[in-house]
Amino acid sequence: MDTEREKRAYLKEMGIQPWVLREKALPVVETNPPAQTGATTVENTGDDAQIALLDWNRLQKSVLACQRCDLHKTRTKTVFGSGNPNAELLIIGEAPGAEEDKQGLPFVGRAGQLLTEMLIAIGLTREQVFIANTLKCRPPNNRNPLPHEGQQCEPYLQRQVELIRPKILLALGRVAAHNILKTEESLGRLRGREHVFLNTNVIVYVTYHPAYLLRQPSEKRKAWQDLKLVRSVL
Ligand code: URA
Repeated sequence: MDTEREKRAYLKEMGIQPWVLREKALPVVETNPPAQTGATTVENTGDDAQIALLDWNRLQKSVLACQRCDLHKTRTKTVFGSGNPNAELLIIGEAPGAEEDKQGLPFVGRAGQLLTEMLIAIGLTREQVFIANTLKCRPPNNRNPLPHEGQQCEPYLQRQVELIRPKILLALGRVAAHNILKTEESLGRLRGREHVFLNTNVIVYVTYHPAYLLRQPSEKRKAWQDLKLVRSVL
């Protein structure tokens, strides 16, 4: 296992700024923020089969207008995702939190700052990857997604994966990993090995959710191992 000094030397060697959480948020430049003015043209949300045929723009509009579960009643904005729609790395979190719901963008709160730093540590920017969630709407009070909500949102994620065609999907945290891999195995057992996304050849890796790492900084070392694995495969 790496010592702190080895890790820093490794990052320095690669010309990467060390991964530490800063007090102030890094500016996040979003490449494709969804327009959510309230007066948007409503795209037919459609059934699973229709969603599976949508192109990127129509998929975004479909998410924007989605009423497939009750979360549309309490959301402020949908969170489609942001970054590079042709990314090799697709990062999937659990669901939008309060700040994400307000801004319509994924991982813009404290956990998002840490995620940005984690990406920098493996030489990537947010603009190079695509970041999304298993759920596109915030569950009230940040409760865990209900199985029904996950099922209703899944066609959107599946279509995102089909259109982005990433090399690697990185699931952040237990809830995202279970939803994506259809398993109940512990995060500890899912980490460090390759999985596949449904019926595709997209490789899935699993690591800790940045919000968990903020609560348990001692686990950052393991997350660092996971990120190095992702980096080595990219
Ligand atoms: N946590 C998540 O899982 N996703 C976000 O977008 C923000 C926090």
